[in-house]
Amino acid sequence: METQRLTLEMAATFLREGQLVSFGTETVYGLGANALDPVAVAKIFDAKQRPTFDPLIVHLADAADADQYAVEIPSNAQELMEAFWPGPLTLVVPKKSVIPDLVTSGLPRVALRVPNHSQARELIRRAGVPLAAPSANPFGGISPTTAQHVLDGLGGVIDGVVDFGPCRVGVESTVVGFDDSGVPIVLRPGGVAVEDLESVVGTVRTMQSMPHDDNLPQLAPGMLSRHYAPNKPLTIVEDVSEFREEARIGAISLSPLPDAEGFAVVEVLSDSGDLVEAAASFFSALRRLEASKLCDRIICAAFPDHGLGKALNDRLRRAATPLVDS
Ligand code: TXA
Ligand code: MG
Repeated sequence: METQRLTLEMAATFLREGQLVSFGTETVYGLGANALDPVAVAKIFDAKQRPTFDPLIVHLADAADADQYAVEIPSNAQELMEAFWPGPLTLVVPKKSVIPDLVTSGLPRVALRVPNHSQARELIRRAGVPLAAPSANPFGGISPTTAQHVLDGLGGVIDGVVDFGPCRVGVESTVVGFDDSGVPIVLRPGGVAVEDLESVVGTVRTMQSMPHDDNLPQLAPGMLSRHYAPNKPLTIVEDVSEFREEARIGAISLSPLPDAEGFAVVEVLSDSGDLVEAAASFFSALRRLEASKLCDRIICAAFPDHGLGKALNDRLRRAATPLVDS
């Protein structure tokens, strides 16, 4: 199969016809299919080699459409929608039966998101159906933030890609579920900072704060074994500078390093050490080090654990975790 570069109009037609099309959002490129068509959705799992126990996010053009796909939306979810949609926030809410079970891996809840990207929303609108879309990378790989990244990983496997330029946010959406009392639980840190959620709904729970006997896999299937694995070992270190004299090391640094010359290659994420800028460049930097002939190991220090630093630390830990399953 040849993967075509599509215009927005062609992409909408492809999607309406049940084909797989990758499209840009503000977070990362998604691999879209008609969320209401189980056959189209099945192609997503096949193309990504993704296990079917890992459910998909359904993307909507407008917040007003949520009622068509969800029931009994908790009041906290309603408030978060009003505050952050369109935006990098995914809400896991009870689903209506029009959403196929394959989309939610058989769970009674569906993950919904309205991207803050006018072309992505226009594409959904023109397709005329909500789009199920995971990140457009082979399962376990690094999420794509450009159309070329998508083609590098899934070229020849998917029907088309529509190039919306580089992604502005650069890390995936924050995924929020709700416990039985409607209290928000951050299932995945992402593009909306936890502090910003808290400013709207008060304290939120995190996965770390969940007692072990809670049914975590039910709430967050696929989240526990997930990884963003580069093809070279990645180590989280206390202080990058201590590794300066070691051979063939690639370093990722939040801000410029005073002693960069010692390294084979350094990727600086932000000239001013800004976490928002760093999030936007993190996955591209990881890909360049993965492709670099100058290094066989990657090191990075943990990011400050606030704002988008939480999402970056989450991705970093997953990238540094050795592959345990498919
Ligand atoms: O920014 C993003 O979220 C991107 C863009 C394309 O929107 N999408 C994305 O999708 O990152 P994906 O499939 O790579 O990650 C979605 C996460 C998965 O870890 C999945 O387990 C969780 O959301 N998820 C989806 N549906 C769920 C559900 N019904 N219950 C709990 N978690 C769910
Ligand atoms: Mg993904």
